[in-house]
Amino acid sequence: MAGAGISTASGIPDFRSPESGFYSTLQHWDVPYPEAIFELSFFLDNPRPFFTWAKNMFPGNFKPNVIHYFLRLLHDRGLLQRLYTQNIDGLERASGIPGSKLVEAHGSFASATCTACGKPSPEQDFWSPSKSSPFAVKHLRRGFLHRSKRFLNLFVLMPLSASAIFWFYLFHLGKTFPLEPKKSSLRLLHRCRWVPSTLTWQGGLDCKGPTRQKAAVMADRVPRCAACAGLVKPDVVFFGEALPERFFLHLVDFPTAELLLILGTSLKVEPFASLSEAVRSSVPRVFMNRKAVESLRPRSRDVVQLGDLVDSVERLVELLGWTEEMRDLVQRETSKLSRPDR
Ligand code: OAD
Ligand code: ZN
Repeated sequence: MAGAGISTASGIPDFRSPESGFYSTLQHWDVPYPEAIFELSFFLDNPRPFFTWAKNMFPGNFKPNVIHYFLRLLHDRGLLQRLYTQNIDGLERASGIPGSKLVEAHGSFASATCTACGKPSPEQDFWSPSKSSPFAVKHLRRGFLHRSKRFLNLFVLMPLSASAIFWFYLFHLGKTFPLEPKKSSLRLLHRCRWVPSTLTWQGGLDCKGPTRQKAAVMADRVPRCAACAGLVKPDVVFFGEALPERFFLHLVDFPTAELLLILGTSLKVEPFASLSEAVRSSVPRVFMNRKAVESLRPRSRDVVQLGDLVDSVERLVELLGWTEEMRDLVQRETSKLSRPDR
């Protein structure tokens, strides 16, 4: 089980540490009380504080640290049954732990949903990076490649000239002479999956995918839904919202676990916190955190290591005799992540 304390060494403040925690820095933000920033009712009313915070969470701003790589090493050695994390910074994935081993209990930016019509974002990632090519053309090309068979089916019987005019319009004239009345035909094409669903007419060609969402957030604007202009919310779990379905994996994972590591969390947020009680009573629990927490009811086989998590993890790695392996892994992975294409 992991919390915000595993990412402070990467430069991301936790939430509840008295001076450095994110909640203690919110006095000058437009929020009535700190947790409001992750409450749906407040978000619907005033989404700006959340997106100001989200902007800072853009992947690439932060890199995994030695604690993430320790968890990765557990996976590499076949010892990690599952990693349940409350963090939405994506650093567990960035460290190379596969999605199948992860339960991102408080969601992630990997997808987004419209709060008005419930439409999932058509793309896979809220932050999909935009390349230098124009949005529409990029998505159109991608759609063309993916759907080339359908395109062939559609066009094989059409005279070549008609299709050439069609493409010429899409690429060049569409922007200047938008076909507003053709919205319904485009909807039909979307429904038949003949053109990418990210391609919409709104005064010309326009991609309403996450590249636009990212662009909006980066420009301090609020991302809007392509279908209804409602507010788009990344699928980060807000207070009062249901946890992702994968969270139910705990029903099989915890009763069969042989050891529970609890790292860098105040265990203040339910239902996540109660997972700490879900292992069998004979199973040792290792709690590593800066401070003790009241909600962890002591058991006879508990091990509590208080202090800085990086120090604690490095000490554990040393006791396990994995120091060299760990150093190699960190070196290999950090050089991968610092390559320009990452
Ligand atoms: P908290 O901020 O509540 O707790 C982080 C814990 O990590 C604290 O007890 C710190 O003392 C400890 N810690 C921080 N840095 C450390 C370090 N370098 N070494 C050792 N310990 C360190 O964060 P979480 O428990 O993760 O929810 O918070 C749970 C949820 O509350 C979050 O997922 C978030 C928040 O509201 C949502 O966003 C929905
Ligand atoms: Zn919508």
